[in-house]
Amino acid sequence: MAPAIAVGGGDMPVFEGRITVYVVACVIIAAFGGLMFGYDIGISGGVTAMDDFLERFFPRVYEKKKHAHEDNYCKYDNQFLQLFTSCLYLAALIASFVASRVCSKQGRRPTMQIASFFFLVGVVLTSAAFHISMLILGRLALGIGVGFANQAVPLFLSELAPAKIRGALNISFQLFITIGIFIANMVNYAMSNVHPYGWRLSLAIAGVPALFLCVGSMSICETPTSLIERGRLEEGRVVLQRIRGVANVDNEFDSIVHACEMANQVTKPFSKLMKRSSRPPLVIAILLQVFQQFTGINAIMFYAPVLFQTVGFGSEASLLSAVITGLVNVFSTLVSVYAVDKAGRRALLLEAVVQMFITQSIIGIILAIWLKPTGSLNKVEAIIVVVLVCVFVMGFAWSWGPLGWLIPSETFPLETRTAGFAFAVSTNMLFTFLVAQAFLSMLCNMKAGIFFFFAAWIVVMGLFAMFLLPETKGVPVDAVTERVWKQHWFWKRFMDEEDVKPAAKAPSGIHPHLT
Ligand code: BGC
Repeated sequence: MAPAIAVGGGDMPVFEGRITVYVVACVIIAAFGGLMFGYDIGISGGVTAMDDFLERFFPRVYEKKKHAHEDNYCKYDNQFLQLFTSCLYLAALIASFVASRVCSKQGRRPTMQIASFFFLVGVVLTSAAFHISMLILGRLALGIGVGFANQAVPLFLSELAPAKIRGALNISFQLFITIGIFIANMVNYAMSNVHPYGWRLSLAIAGVPALFLCVGSMSICETPTSLIERGRLEEGRVVLQRIRGVANVDNEFDSIVHACEMANQVTKPFSKLMKRSSRPPLVIAILLQVFQQFTGINAIMFYAPVLFQTVGFGSEASLLSAVITGLVNVFSTLVSVYAVDKAGRRALLLEAVVQMFITQSIIGIILAIWLKPTGSLNKVEAIIVVVLVCVFVMGFAWSWGPLGWLIPSETFPLETRTAGFAFAVSTNMLFTFLVAQAFLSMLCNMKAGIFFFFAAWIVVMGLFAMFLLPETKGVPVDAVTERVWKQHWFWKRFMDEEDVKPAAKAPSGIHPHLT
């Protein structure tokens, strides 16, 4: 059975309840899963730029780096070094399929507990590593943690949040990711001067949020939806009363029961997802993730310090620059929280396409003209590159970053939403893996051309957003089939009558649910 979660729509009836302290506490604890994910994204680039770390585990890269004048673009090109960063996403990709079952059969809370357990194992293995195999094993354990957390946390947040703040809460997950990346950047900056074990401390500090998630996840509740869908109706009601802070939760309770009944009817959401009528949201969910990664964002998030060293900054200045881009990332995400329901999804995505295309292209031009395989940029040119990277990150952070997650969560009809979202998560992990694994080699082979490669993809995604991506701002989630897909000039052809079950209508006074 597909798990059912409650989500909000534009014209949603109001349920009784308030935003209780307990809900806020649960949400913050769960969002630490996102913070862990962000920390892992941000930490590896800085650590792989630290000499002590390289000397110990990647002596050949270290030697090459010392003779940097050999070739600027190829300083760090080493498959094992990239594997250190990327294997986490491969583990997460596989783990997310297991996690989706655990999440559905055992609940969100145990899934998060399992995530925090793997996070802790990963932190111990990586920070205490004395051999490269221990490092890789540790990153794999962290990846399993990410797979479990990314499956459970967004569901948990959606199900726990009062309907009226559900949209903003969805983007809060991304906000915590960016905070995690930023903290990792700062930690790397602080640890770069701690010899010889700064890198160990950088990796060990991940233990703080992991421990917090571990202890915290014991004190949070299971979501009412998860309890009810597993037949624990009365427990579900009690939890609902507790999180809403009112005794009368009948309407919301009924609506969750209704959603769970609907979920029960679709016994094979994955086969339903393969039907022609599911094509539009499925294609869009997958392409959004592919495009999100082909903006080149993670080339910057993972390797910013490495990239900044490539353009000629010293080790410390590079880490500082990464701190600055991390900060820009956090604050620009806040713009999205504010603008997404006002300006709409398409406006943000299209504006960002222009911004990201221009910045990637100019970075490419500057490097192509001034950064030769030997020598480095002068100070002004290098600073211009950092500013351009910041403007690029800004564009991503208020558009393709959060919306890559938000849109797939609101465009699937009731019966395939969770299964469809699982596709979005795994596609994200797969393409994150590919970028992480390939970027340094691509930089070495394509040199400045790599930035034109990303710029070209940005043009493609711009055309996609312009012609194929419908606007979903303000459309109730259960009306997307009727009001979006059936009206769209291209996607309506997939909506032949016999294949499309009308979107399930929630009884009046009951808000839409997703299964
Ligand atoms: C992406 C990550 C990326 C992060 C940057 C997320 O939406 O999925 O891959 O590193 O944004 O803030």
